[in-house]
Amino acid sequence: MSLEVIILAAGQGTRMKSQLPKVLHPLAGKPMVGHVLDTAAALKPAHMHLVVGHGSDQLRGYLAGRKDADAINIVEQTEQLGTGHAVDQAMPQVDPNSTVLVLYGDVPLTTLATLQQLVSLADAQRLGLLTVTLEDPTGYGRIVRDHDHQVVAIVEHKDASEAELAIAEINTGILALPAAWLKQWLPALSADNAQGEYYLTDIIAMAAAARHTIDAVQPGAEQEVQGVNNRLQLAALERWYQQQQAEHWMTEGVTLMDPARVDFRGDIHIGQDVTLDVNVILEGRVRIGDGVEIGANCVIRDSEIAPGTVIKSHSLLDGASVAEGCDVGPFARLRPGTELARGAKVGNFVETKKAKVGEGSKINHLSYVGDADLGREVNVGAGTITCNYDGVNKHKTEIDDGAFIGSNTSLVAPVRVGKGATTAAGSTITKAVADGALGVARGRQVSLAQWQRPKKQQ
Ligand code: UD1
Ligand code: CA
Repeated sequence: MSLEVIILAAGQGTRMKSQLPKVLHPLAGKPMVGHVLDTAAALKPAHMHLVVGHGSDQLRGYLAGRKDADAINIVEQTEQLGTGHAVDQAMPQVDPNSTVLVLYGDVPLTTLATLQQLVSLADAQRLGLLTVTLEDPTGYGRIVRDHDHQVVAIVEHKDASEAELAIAEINTGILALPAAWLKQWLPALSADNAQGEYYLTDIIAMAAAARHTIDAVQPGAEQEVQGVNNRLQLAALERWYQQQQAEHWMTEGVTLMDPARVDFRGDIHIGQDVTLDVNVILEGRVRIGDGVEIGANCVIRDSEIAPGTVIKSHSLLDGASVAEGCDVGPFARLRPGTELARGAKVGNFVETKKAKVGEGSKINHLSYVGDADLGREVNVGAGTITCNYDGVNKHKTEIDDGAFIGSNTSLVAPVRVGKGATTAAGSTITKAVADGALGVARGRQVSLAQWQRPKKQQ
């Protein structure tokens, strides 16, 4: 049977106290609903339907930016009349011969394995329910079972009897069932209950009455089915996720100086014998090779770092590619388009942007190198600036192999410094310096002998 996924995300999320729709609040740098969509997509469903209501414009904006935007069917639920009503909004576009998996946009961390197991319980004649047993089940729908331990109903907290309130097994809201049942029973739901809502959960009693099989499965961890209603719960779930990531990477051979003080946000891969010191943040698409060391307080975003490179503390890499054996930081800022070849060095208070730095070249202190192409074994002195911007256009600086840029050189681009050429310290270089030449462009020094300093006036 084909699979269709319906994700409910129309609720307001009042307790977030936010202009941003709840499901767009990020967890590990990605909107909660993004986690749900990504996991759902991994099940390779025939279709994904997202039920939106509150904040739907912002949600549409986010979805439009996703690579799989075309694969997501957006369903508008203008009035939030309950979970049963929400699912019903999507039904006209659901294949009656499919299995439907219902997910919530504010339950971000359910694993693929759990969902696969749940979906495997459902077929044309069977319903799969994801339940969990909680120490404190307050507020949740309770799973009611008969003497044979068969699920017969879900009773919402507000509608439950004393005896039912004592049940610790609760409904996570996530379930898989034949689309045909939904088509048949959703129109028959009544809102005659404590909340005046159309409860999706009432389907369970209908399925039980029709003597259909209802199987329940529990997730590996409670947090997998934890919904987020406020920022405290979001923070708690973020911490749990980060702990999982930290444990995973330590198991894979990464040393974390403090597993509680490192953050993984994105599509990350780390080789063996990598050391991450405290407060390192890895964001976006990050690839870190074997043996890399990253010092305290570094942010590495959308970057690749090849084996054996050392990134010293307080460095920010964004869209950078760093080859083997490089030495970066402390306090370096590598901006998008920075490419360091093998053994290059970028030291403290150096900013680079769209800069290719050849093998063994060094920019050790206090420089800005942008729109630049540096050959091999170039030495860039302290305080060197590429003046790449004339206020309108950006221009390129080329520095050939073995050149030596004296300290405090301004390189007014477009400009080229030839192979093995030198610029004198303090020069403002506006014209090409030929291979092997010395470029001097500064006022000559004058020394006045026996110079009398001014005296204080009476
Ligand atoms: C629901 C379940 C309850 C379960 C709990 C788990 C029902 C009737 N109850 O209760 O058994 O224990 O989830 O968290 O299903 N939504 C819409 N449109 C609506 C109503 C809700 O899109 O009209 C979305 C919400 O945005 C949310 C999800 O559905 O993501 C759940 O809705 P919520 O109101 O939080 O359900 P609960 O009352 O918590
Ligand atoms: Ca809820």
